[in-house]
Amino acid sequence: MANSPSGDSVTDRIVRVLETFTPSRSVQTAAEVGRRAGLPASTAHRIVGDLVEAGLLDRDGEGRISVGLRLWELATRSSHVLRVRQAALPAMERVQARVREHTQLAILEQDEALFLERLSDPRAGANITRIAGRLPLHASSSGLVLLAFAEPAVQERVLGGPLRRVSASTPTDPAAVRRKLAEVRRLGHAIAPGYIEEVSTGVAVPVRDDAGRAAAALSVVLPRDAVPALALEELHRAALEVERALRSPL
Ligand code: PHB
Repeated sequence: MANSPSGDSVTDRIVRVLETFTPSRSVQTAAEVGRRAGLPASTAHRIVGDLVEAGLLDRDGEGRISVGLRLWELATRSSHVLRVRQAALPAMERVQARVREHTQLAILEQDEALFLERLSDPRAGANITRIAGRLPLHASSSGLVLLAFAEPAVQERVLGGPLRRVSASTPTDPAAVRRKLAEVRRLGHAIAPGYIEEVSTGVAVPVRDDAGRAAAALSVVLPRDAVPALALEELHRAALEVERALRSPL
């Protein structure tokens, strides 16, 4: 791809434009996109215009830009994510109906937990996860499960830090996180009291593949002092069901 005077390729600039959209910032003006992508205004306007024309971005009547349905359509066809989500949904619905708290599905993606699905109850408590949002591995129950059953190289890279403090209860000492990962492997689940926000406790189990790695994590977000026994029982049962569904051909 042709390079700009600053040396970055057209692809780099398009990726930077798309990455300015986050779970909490889904609508922006073209000028904001340009500023956040570190692009000159004219370049940003041209790239945004091209992407709108291609349907990858949308522009509303007031000129505000958001991610286009065409981009969602293409990305949702990613067969792996679709397969994991479809395999997990019936079991997640059962967990959610019985526990009546947020039930979530995450996979490991570039050293973070990426959330593919979240089912909620109107009466369920606080939850900061968003579908297509990410959480740090060391600071969430889903992340700890994904990390505990990940390749050793991933564990070493993440433990090498920095381990960001998200709440006052987030473990940020690599030795403490290493001990927690050993506990998760021993117990087969993770309990993360207040790690991501003080008011809640995340509880997660792995969905294991044939190699014993975590293909995904299933989790429930409980009020901080809730007893996790029912959630754990339901999650373990759900994980077995999802593992079976993933093993059978579509
Ligand atoms: C967790 O997975 O530990 C978790 C996720 C979202 C929350 C709280 C805890 O809001």
